[in-house]
Amino acid sequence: MQTHEIRKRFLDHFVKAGHTEVPSASVILDDPNLLFVNAGMVQFVPYFLGQRTPPWDRAVSVQKCIRTPDIDEVGITTRHNTFFQMAGNFSFGDYFKKGAIEFAWTLLTNPQDQGGYGFDPERIWATVYLDDDEAISLWQEVAGLPLERIQRRGMADNYWSMGIPGPCGPSSEIYYDRGPEYGIDGGPEANEDRYIEIWNLVFMQNERGEGTSKSDFEILGPLPRKNIDTGMGVERVACLLQDVDNVYETDLLRPAIDLVAGIAPRGYGRGNHSDDVRYRIIADHSRTAAIIIGDGVSPGNEGRGYVLRRLLRRIIRAAKLLGVEQPIMAELMVTVRDAMSPSYPELGRDFDRIQRIAVAEETAFNRTLASGSRLFDDAARTTKSSGATVLSGTDAFTLHDTYGFPFELTLEMAAEAGLSVDEEGFRGLMAEQRQRAKADAAARKQAHTDLTAYRDLVDTHPTQFTGFDELTTEARILGIFVDGRRVPVVGHDTATAQHRIELVLDRSPFYAESGGQIADEGTITGTGASQTAKAAVSDVQKIAKTLWVHRATVESGEFVEGDTVVAAVDPRWRHGATQGHSGTHMVHAALRQVLGPNAVQAGSLNRPGYLRFDFNWQGALNDDQRSQIEEVTNQAVEADFEVHSFTTDLEKAKSMGAMALFGEAYPDEVRVVEIGGPFSLELCGGTHVRNSAQIGPVTILGESSVGSGVRRVEAYVGLDSFRHLAKERALMAGLASTLKVPSEEVPARVAGLVERLRAAEKELDRMRLANARAAAVNAVAGAEQVGKVRLVAQRMAGGMSAGDLRTLVGDIRGKLGSEPAVVALIAEGENDSVPFVVAVNAAAQDLGLRANELVKPFGAAVNGRGGGKADLAQGSGKGAAGIDAALAALRAEIDRS
Ligand code: SER
Repeated sequence: MQTHEIRKRFLDHFVKAGHTEVPSASVILDDPNLLFVNAGMVQFVPYFLGQRTPPWDRAVSVQKCIRTPDIDEVGITTRHNTFFQMAGNFSFGDYFKKGAIEFAWTLLTNPQDQGGYGFDPERIWATVYLDDDEAISLWQEVAGLPLERIQRRGMADNYWSMGIPGPCGPSSEIYYDRGPEYGIDGGPEANEDRYIEIWNLVFMQNERGEGTSKSDFEILGPLPRKNIDTGMGVERVACLLQDVDNVYETDLLRPAIDLVAGIAPRGYGRGNHSDDVRYRIIADHSRTAAIIIGDGVSPGNEGRGYVLRRLLRRIIRAAKLLGVEQPIMAELMVTVRDAMSPSYPELGRDFDRIQRIAVAEETAFNRTLASGSRLFDDAARTTKSSGATVLSGTDAFTLHDTYGFPFELTLEMAAEAGLSVDEEGFRGLMAEQRQRAKADAAARKQAHTDLTAYRDLVDTHPTQFTGFDELTTEARILGIFVDGRRVPVVGHDTATAQHRIELVLDRSPFYAESGGQIADEGTITGTGASQTAKAAVSDVQKIAKTLWVHRATVESGEFVEGDTVVAAVDPRWRHGATQGHSGTHMVHAALRQVLGPNAVQAGSLNRPGYLRFDFNWQGALNDDQRSQIEEVTNQAVEADFEVHSFTTDLEKAKSMGAMALFGEAYPDEVRVVEIGGPFSLELCGGTHVRNSAQIGPVTILGESSVGSGVRRVEAYVGLDSFRHLAKERALMAGLASTLKVPSEEVPARVAGLVERLRAAEKELDRMRLANARAAAVNAVAGAEQVGKVRLVAQRMAGGMSAGDLRTLVGDIRGKLGSEPAVVALIAEGENDSVPFVVAVNAAAQDLGLRANELVKPFGAAVNGRGGGKADLAQGSGKGAAGIDAALAALRAEIDRS
């Protein structure tokens, strides 16, 4: 049975049983604790926790899930995917254990011609949580499962949570016995390769708190209602129903394996286990990468972007190790699209972008590999020339750390070069690095746990934002924090050395940083008896979305919890901030007018006077596009459009064409900001000007790349824009006066000067060469006879470079004819360096002289080292004082030979 059919049967089965079909959520949901959606239930968390009322009692979905903690298992086991489809049925306070078991059992065991999967009931096993006698009885009653095929397991296996605070509960897992050829019997408890888990039924009834592992967390108490959350692994069911050995060989993944097997010199399934693992990694990861990019992530160096980058690089590395020389990403993405788009049409719709981003990363990584290879060659050469056979751990680590060069590849290339690698040294350095990373993470966690100090307030006192309507608000102090600890009172003298505190107010006109707009600045002052209290606010951050924390410096007096204060935003600051934010919307709209709808927003930042805007785009913008964007923006500013903001529901806003940030989770009620009707319509919670002319002039400063496939424009707005232009004008005036021409003639004048400079440099080169030739003639005239050898050993004029010396040596050697001859030149170079070159002609080599040996004592006399071949060697030292000694040493050496 094909995967698309398995999916369809699941949805049909549950829709028929009164479930509403809910589409898969994006793999990115707005939860800073969750990198990617890792289970079908994630989009329903607020319903389980009772924070929102579910619109239905029963739901069914097939959710796109990403799990990367087991990335190293991919391809090695038969069942680990970094992307998989989780089919799930959900009950929000409706049916519970009995219903869940019944529904699962009928779908699994109903014959295929009756819409089921047709699994042999005799091969199905179940596990339950240690004390869940009720589930055991239900399995017996409902499914007729004998007691010996029901096993009790502990918290780590049969008590499910998201790994972070949220809903949780005991679970019952369903396993299928693949038969004795897959290992020993004894049920899932004994062997999870033979007994493969296909479905997890979670009896979601409690809420968990913080914890350290799967089996160690605090249970805070029961949820408002008892719920059901189940997850069936679509790929695993496909593996069984298609009777293939592992999930990578199922119908949606196999095409990628076949594609690469058609290109790589060694095929798939030919008995080479490491090769097979590489094929499976490619098939698994290319699908995951396409899905992640599809949901709006670009490769980067942290967070989700880093996961994506790692997946893409592992594909490329695996392909290289399989012996694939050519780029393969473009074709892989086509394969993924063709296999997956019947279930995920967005992969087809957005294919160009997905493919572009994946290919750009491949190109960039191949460049990395190329520079890494050069470094490898150097390291290998140095290792060999020192007579060693082991590449150092430091070299392998630098390759890995600086060049992203995979260790396996270093091993293989070293083997080809006849070297081994100090693996232990490498691992030691990696461990040290991990240690450092851990320490960093621990430090961050520290900062995170501190947030628990605000917990009381988060739950009971959301801050009311008044800043859309007023800049000054009377408010009450709800909490005062110093160094993350809550204190009742803080004064200028009792705050920390820098007098830095955090204030939580019940109402605030201060905009907290979000949506790219940075926080307002201003003051908080006491009233009544504490009117001497004054603090300057420099930052405002939201905690858990609802609580505004004002970071401030106490300038005088004392603040007491419960006191009334006046919170006042600096009006000039706010004016600038509105200009920056509205300017950002204008640039966004202009950009899409000029470049088209593919220029999708990827991020933004604005503050008074300045804005930057990131968007998905391949390649640099040309001058024409840049000036058009600037022109359209300024025309729209000048048109003095009115700015409206209103709230509406998300669907309505989207149907009006309001632009939303891709992959961002929005609440049901959203705020829309409209500038000039259709010109600009965006979902936005920021503060804006009233009319577009208030933005003032917008000057685009430049455009640059910020990662593959993402460009950034930066601009000044308002007075800053004017000041920038005025500065450029002053600069131009200065240039014009220095060059003594009117400003419009400056470009031609500069071009003329550059031209003349080039001509002068050429002339200089010519003269240097002529001088060098003359020096060569002189040097030959000064040749001396040492034993059988004609020797030119000379100190050259100061300022000569190693390159100059090499040219000269060549010339002199040519002039000395075929009798045995040695040429050694040394000079006082730049920056106190002493470059030297030694050449030995063929006849002198016949006498046993070698340039690479002669250069050693020569170099030693000037504190330097040199190396090379028998005919030519060179090096550099420090300290001109040793030059005469060096020449003497060389003479003596030749004399001895
Ligand atoms: N949440 C459970 C899981 O992910 C069942 O859906 O396994």
